[in-house]
Amino acid sequence: MAKDKLRIGMVGYGFMGRTHSNAFTQAPKFFDLAREPELVAVAARNKDRAEEFAANWGYGSVESDWRALIDRDDIDLIDIAAPNNVHHDIAIAAAEAGKMVMCEKPLGRTAAESSEMVAAVESAGVPNMVWYNYRRIPAVTHAKHLIDAGKLGRIFHYRAQFLQDWTIAEDLPQGGEALWRLDVDVAGSGVTGDLLAHCIDTAMWLNGGIDTVTAMTETFIKERPHNLTGKVEPVGIDDASAFMARFGNGSLGLFEATRYARGHKALYTFEINGEHASLAWDLHDLTRLSMFDHRDDGPERGWRSIHVTDGEHPYMGNWWVPGLHIGYAESFVHQAADFINGLDGVEAAPTFADAHRTDLVTDAVLKSGKTGQWEGAS
Ligand SMILES: NC(=O)c1ccc[n+]([C@@H]2O[C@H](COP(=O)([O-])OP(=O)(O)OC[C@H]3O[C@@H](n4cnc5c(N)ncnc54)[C@H](O)[C@@H]3O)[C@@H](O)[C@H]2O)c1
Repeated sequence: MAKDKLRIGMVGYGFMGRTHSNAFTQAPKFFDLAREPELVAVAARNKDRAEEFAANWGYGSVESDWRALIDRDDIDLIDIAAPNNVHHDIAIAAAEAGKMVMCEKPLGRTAAESSEMVAAVESAGVPNMVWYNYRRIPAVTHAKHLIDAGKLGRIFHYRAQFLQDWTIAEDLPQGGEALWRLDVDVAGSGVTGDLLAHCIDTAMWLNGGIDTVTAMTETFIKERPHNLTGKVEPVGIDDASAFMARFGNGSLGLFEATRYARGHKALYTFEINGEHASLAWDLHDLTRLSMFDHRDDGPERGWRSIHVTDGEHPYMGNWWVPGLHIGYAESFVHQAADFINGLDGVEAAPTFADAHRTDLVTDAVLKSGKTGQWEGAS
């Protein structure tokens, strides 16, 4: 029997436009989905490039304004893969038009923005999800299962880092199509909303809510030429951000992100220490989960490296044969599959409401970076 279609309108053809288009293309080939995703149209301001993108990925048509995408009645889901400054307006307009909405992270530039987005999807009653894709790397999902099964016991510590090195050059401009992440009006913040948001989402998923934070933030290069105005302008984003956190379960958190760690491109790592066991994960070796279990027998006790590629591991039974890798792109495939299969009753997380809670933490981190005080984060 033919499946119902899930007709997708994509906003943005950049990095995330590609990962999402790939996800919706691959998901039905590897997962048994309740509905068949169909790439109907893509909206972006540069029509020539959007047409090239549409032809490559198989979208039926192109719009040069996202509003036209929302007005179409042959689209069920609006997927927002555009910069942070447009998430709010697109998501709210889509929800008000009765469309399902998937949105890239961070949900809003501020928690105030994302709170309005939550209100819009909830009052419209439309399915919604935010692309915090790291949850669905099988080793990370496996960590969640081990923690939920109580294997670690009481949790004492959570620590995470997300390190990059691409903005160290003093003459790097800010703003415009390629460098919007350095323009605070577009991005909302620097590494706090960009990189730490991922760490916070994973942390709260694995270890529960964060109550309070104290942070230090720094902007190392204070002025940069702006690509849109041609003038040298103050830099409003945080280049580096580190914070301590108290989780609701009594454990302590330590988080750091920077774009000034020479040699690191995307070093996302986390470690969690419980009374019985610890887990550690590293994006650069993403198929492995390290585990130390104090209950193991005597002299052989030590850190073990679990190769998360077996059929019994999360998602892996749908891929190749045991021992063979999948990677970064597949985390988006898993998220697309879970969203589609969650449509008929089961809520697929993280929802807008979950992502808003992450924005509350990033807001508190930025505030504490200025006040030097502990700030409430929930
Ligand atoms: N989940 C992740 O791991 C992850 C990774 C990278 C980026 N992101 C997030 O994804 C979003 C997009 O980032 P990216 O790296 O794909 O950016 P990008 O610069 O590669 O692409 C952005 C796209 O948005 C389009 N766009 C810009 N303004 C628009 C508008 N007003 N209307 C329609 N289209 C518009 C651009 O034309 C471009 O196609 C951001 O919110 C970012 O934080 C998430």
